Amino acid sequence: MADRILVLGGAGYIGSHVQKQLLEDGFEVIVFDNLSSGDKVNILSGAKLIVGDILDIEAIDKAMSLGIKGVVHLAAKKAVGESMIKPEIYASNNLTGSINILNSMAKHNVRYIVFSSSAAVYGMPKYIPIDEEHPICPINYYGYTKRAIEENMEWYKKLGKLNYVALRYFNAVGYAKDKSITGRERNPQNLMPIIMEAATGKRDGFSIFGNDYETKDGTCVRDYIHVSDLARAHSLSLKKLFETDCSYTLNLGTGIGTSVKEIVDATEKVIGKKLNYDYAPRRSGDPAILTAKASKATEVLGWKPIYTNVEDIISTVWNLEI
Ligand code: UFG
Repeated sequence: MADRILVLGGAGYIGSHVQKQLLEDGFEVIVFDNLSSGDKVNILSGAKLIVGDILDIEAIDKAMSLGIKGVVHLAAKKAVGESMIKPEIYASNNLTGSINILNSMAKHNVRYIVFSSSAAVYGMPKYIPIDEEHPICPINYYGYTKRAIEENMEWYKKLGKLNYVALRYFNAVGYAKDKSITGRERNPQNLMPIIMEAATGKRDGFSIFGNDYETKDGTCVRDYIHVSDLARAHSLSLKKLFETDCSYTLNLGTGIGTSVKEIVDATEKVIGKKLNYDYAPRRSGDPAILTAKASKATEVLGWKPIYTNVEDIISTVWNLEI
């Protein structure tokens, strides 16, 4: 019988790609999502949806009692700026919600969790590329919540209740190449979906935040990782947990730094037209460069990103529009 996986927050952008990968790899998938930012259109055929909230302990307990072998936990608020203005939402949803999940897992003897952590746990980079040994010093409340959950998983592991894989994502972008995922994020806050909205006329234009950084062209450099590569790491992590009963913390990035301007130029090339943008002041809290050393994920999981060309990545988004 297929192992049954509970994907918390599975109706979102990353969750839908994780569902796809897990189904392709022969897992049985139950999505648990409050649909606050996720969408029913993102539930793939073959997956089952439970509409529920991670703050509702009874609802989680009910889901966790369905013979679950492992959990993928993606249910979180993720807007960095908002987390500094309304930390209470992040404390409640990300912290309390995650503790509810860990407690429910312990109660129902569900021993394995793959957690979506973030490069935001590192804060301002002290060196580049960032490996997992880099000092942890989040500079926004969102990043703090991710770190706090990692620490709690570490404690629950020490207490013999579970094993975990914490996946520290760098910048997730792209869509499944076969166009099987059609749902879009509402009110996107990140660069790539904002550029796409400008490309399709949903917004007039956009701003590049800062062109006076000490980088190749003055704009910020990030490590853009295709969401399908990211999703594959979740499936591999579950298999690793089931095999080894050990815990791991892994960066997920390509190691390749791409500037905002390079993303814009590559997008213009892919879509075959000029975009409307201007240069605005720096956005507060943005490090100049963030790139990952992700060789540990290769060693532990045998994982390697397939998408390393930024135009290929952008094409997977543009494909959905044409
Ligand atoms: N940017 C612009 N214009 C925009 C939006 C973004 O110039 O309209 C720039 C940003 O200043 C930054 C780059 O594009 O330099 C990428 O910005 P994103 O908002 O897309 O992503 P971030 O790097 O700020 O953050 C992302 C995730 C966080 C995660 C972080 C970890 O959104 O959740 O990566 O690296 F914490």
